[in-house]
Amino acid sequence: MRNLEFIVALTGASGIIYGVQLLKYFKKMGVKTHLIISEPAKVIIKHELNLNIKEVKKLADFTYDPRDFTAPIASGSYRSDGMIIIPCSMKTLSAIANGYADNLITRAAECMLKEKKPLILVPRETPLSIVHLKNMVKAAEAGAIIIPAMPAFYHKPKTIEDLINFVIGKVLDMLGIQHDLYKRWGEK
Ligand SMILES: Cc1cc2nc3c(=O)[nH]c(=O)nc-3n(C[C@H](O)[C@H](O)[C@H](O)COP(=O)(O)O)c2cc1C
Repeated sequence: MRNLEFIVALTGASGIIYGVQLLKYFKKMGVKTHLIISEPAKVIIKHELNLNIKEVKKLADFTYDPRDFTAPIASGSYRSDGMIIIPCSMKTLSAIANGYADNLITRAAECMLKEKKPLILVPRETPLSIVHLKNMVKAAEAGAIIIPAMPAFYHKPKTIEDLINFVIGKVLDMLGIQHDLYKRWGEK
């Protein structure tokens, strides 16, 4: 049986750390990853994490230019187990909700929807306009799973990492991957 394999896209929303930590977790677990980083996301990586893009790319098994329409993952025939866009900008959300597949991220996402595979969007914006809210509804109606970058506090987080791990834990929960990234309600 082949290993689990996911497409991970980082887009230009704040909270790029969520995507980087998810990639680190997948690497630790031996989950294969295909990474696409949008051009705006590269700017945010530098600004928020002061990280070199090459270091982020090293966390993935395969990386692609967002303009590469010839990549295997641009086709619905590619056998992956799903896709996570983390963080997901309102622009990328809008493109997915409206079927505007003008780059590899939105094309791969479109393939997930048409092939009925898990597509998880981790949007980050505040406040949300009616346009953002409607696009989330549209994307959810088309089959996407919306997990907003919205950490909880009932697990008594002590560090920023605890907050990040809560969101990543929710993503893994949705994919059916076991983890101990946050303490569940009622768990000792
Ligand atoms: C510092 C910075 C922070 C940003 N934060 C957000 C954000 O949290 N959410 C969002 O939707 N867009 C945010 N943007 C705007 C997006 O980067 C912009 O809309 C971009 O076109 C998104 O393109 P992409 O989806 O292809 O990455 C931010 C931009 C900058 C420069």
